[in-house]
Amino acid sequence: MIKSKLSEISKPVQEELVCFEKLFKESIKSKVGIVDLIARYILRQKGKKIRPLLVLLAAKVSGNVNERTYRGAVLVELLHTATLIHDDVVDNSDKRRGFWSINAIFKNKGAVLMGDYLLARGLMIATEGKDFDFLSVITNTVKRMAEGELLQIQKTRKLNIDEETYFRIISDKTASLLETCCQIGALSSSDNKEYHEAMRVFGEAIGIAFQIKDDILDYEGSASLIGKPVGGDIKEKKITLPLIYSLNQVSSGEASRIRKMIKSGTGKSDVNDIINFVREHKGIDYAVKTAHEYSEKASEALKVFPDSPGKIALEALIDFIIERKN
Ligand code: IPE
Ligand code: IPE
Ligand code: MG
Ligand code: MG
Repeated sequence: MIKSKLSEISKPVQEELVCFEKLFKESIKSKVGIVDLIARYILRQKGKKIRPLLVLLAAKVSGNVNERTYRGAVLVELLHTATLIHDDVVDNSDKRRGFWSINAIFKNKGAVLMGDYLLARGLMIATEGKDFDFLSVITNTVKRMAEGELLQIQKTRKLNIDEETYFRIISDKTASLLETCCQIGALSSSDNKEYHEAMRVFGEAIGIAFQIKDDILDYEGSASLIGKPVGGDIKEKKITLPLIYSLNQVSSGEASRIRKMIKSGTGKSDVNDIINFVREHKGIDYAVKTAHEYSEKASEALKVFPDSPGKIALEALIDFIIERKN
């Protein structure tokens, strides 16, 4: 097994990623000054590029990377960037990828409109390429991501989220896009329906593991590595898996005391108390264990593919997602 470092994992598609970067840059240019200004700001901050990597690897494992694969990779990264920009408005976050978020600099109106612009650019690229199969998958994804974020807002208000609802939220807001990346990659390079479905299942499983890990990092990550503050979810009254589990371990009186603490607004020391409460009740251990269950599902889905460097990379990517520090 390759060591779980993203640059090593990317090796089988290293040249393809360079080509992707160029196309991505071109795709967000604009003749309108302020759009181009925000676009250049976005390009300076490096994301992990996991979604285009998934498209390229899924295509390689199912067949050959081609023009359609590149359009798919650009499409998903545009959509991802748009949703991050919108998400920071929704979550009141002023940091992203170690820099000020778009809303922090260009206000909510700049962020909302820039997100719309990026989404439209992605859909245009697929339309111009006549990739109607991509469009039918991606429009459903956009719908699911919005539903996931909205359901989260609804539950946040009442602080009454259970595990089942948590999984519904993360499956819609995050896993749907990773699922789509793998599907689009396979669709771009193969007609084999079994491959399309296996990639869908693989993407969904790593997508769920990915968000569980993101939620764990919000409890015990390093702010300088994740590029956003730790404890942000608690501050925003977002109840994620580590806390859901921990609240289920204590008496209803104790659980409602913690809920009240979250509700009444949390200063730094309250956030620390809640993080300690979760640690004490093994909420993080439980979330780690659950993420591992999904990574096993993901490995299982890869079994239909013949052995290849791309497949080894996807296997290593499963480990990266669970072990990542950023
Ligand atoms: C962040 O995704 C949003 C979530 C779905 C948790 P990434 O962690 O992939 O973001 P970047 O692109 O690397 O910044
Ligand atoms: C994932 O949720 C966001 C999207 C699906 C766009 P989070 O709100 O947890 O993501 P971060 O932590 O801000 O990156
Ligand atoms: Mg957020
Ligand atoms: Mg988060």
